[in-house]
Amino acid sequence: MSTTSSPAPAPTSDPLELPALGFGTYKLRGTDGSEAVTGALELGYRLIDSAYNYENEGTVGAGIRAAVERGVAAREEIIYTSKLPGRYHERTSALATVEESYHRSGVGPIDLYLIHWPNPKQGHYVEAWRALIEARERGLVTHIGVCNFLPEHMEVLEKETGELPEVNQIELHPAFPQVGALEWNTAHGVITEGWSPLGRGAALDSVPVQDAARAHDATPGQVVLAWHRAIGSLAIPKAATRARQRENLESLTLELTADEITAITALGNPDGRLKGQDPATYEEF
Ligand SMILES: NC(=O)c1ccc[n+]([C@@H]2O[C@H](COP(=O)([O-])OP(=O)(O)OC[C@H]3O[C@@H](n4cnc5c(N)ncnc54)[C@H](OP(=O)(O)O)[C@@H]3O)[C@@H](O)[C@H]2O)c1
Repeated sequence: MSTTSSPAPAPTSDPLELPALGFGTYKLRGTDGSEAVTGALELGYRLIDSAYNYENEGTVGAGIRAAVERGVAAREEIIYTSKLPGRYHERTSALATVEESYHRSGVGPIDLYLIHWPNPKQGHYVEAWRALIEARERGLVTHIGVCNFLPEHMEVLEKETGELPEVNQIELHPAFPQVGALEWNTAHGVITEGWSPLGRGAALDSVPVQDAARAHDATPGQVVLAWHRAIGSLAIPKAATRARQRENLESLTLELTADEITAITALGNPDGRLKGQDPATYEEF
């Protein structure tokens, strides 16, 4: 990352490399959740999302440990992700929360740890970012990033700390394609992960998606996930069942035409967020 002002703590790990598709876990909890995570790893997923606020770091960690114990994947092949809640942005509580995440998941250093929301009215996200840098220096986490940061928040992080996040996980689906944010992230070497990539199912019924599904003998879900890959968004769909987990993974062989990609992107509108959660004003704790 380039530096603009104050001395920059250099990243201590190799650049982050992620697979083309990840696995979301919001609402996956308990034994069913653990088994879903192990099953996803058996199918080939290697990037597993979670968050302190999902109250499932233990569930997801147990699913990962079971997969490693069964020889499904080596621990170092798996990228386990968790996130720092908005109520713990101040340094001491941020570091304690990362430690809590570490102990809850039980998978060793957390491969990727993200600030969940910037909460700009509170004004502590730079302090949270410095805490994540410190957590990395302590070996609690390996890579760090953010979610829901607008370019203006990213610029503040770079100006204040000299370091940009490696990942920005943002709401991204056909109704809200985030073209500008995607371009900003790409231009600055930041990986864009797309959350609610299927619009929680709402993205599947539109004419361009249905047309492409028919043309490629694919499912609407596969079309939307192929669209993500085509525009540079790393989708992290959540699917409880093995059938949908497999269906989504098989989107990796689907290549859409330029016209299909354009038509799906054109579904976007400025009010297309699922729940109106604009990070400029919305806060989550
Ligand atoms: N950083 C953030 O602020 C933030 C916010 C929201 C979400 N996330 C992360 O992003 C992940 C994904 O987002 P999400 O869970 O909100 O929504 P999503 O992945 O867009 O949609 C999940 C829903 O779609 C269904 N589904 C999955 N595959 C399908 C397919 N091929 N065809 C039809 N329906 C399908 C799932 O059903 P079943 O599970 O019943 O199969 C589930 O109801 C979350 O799980 C979480 O890890 C992050």
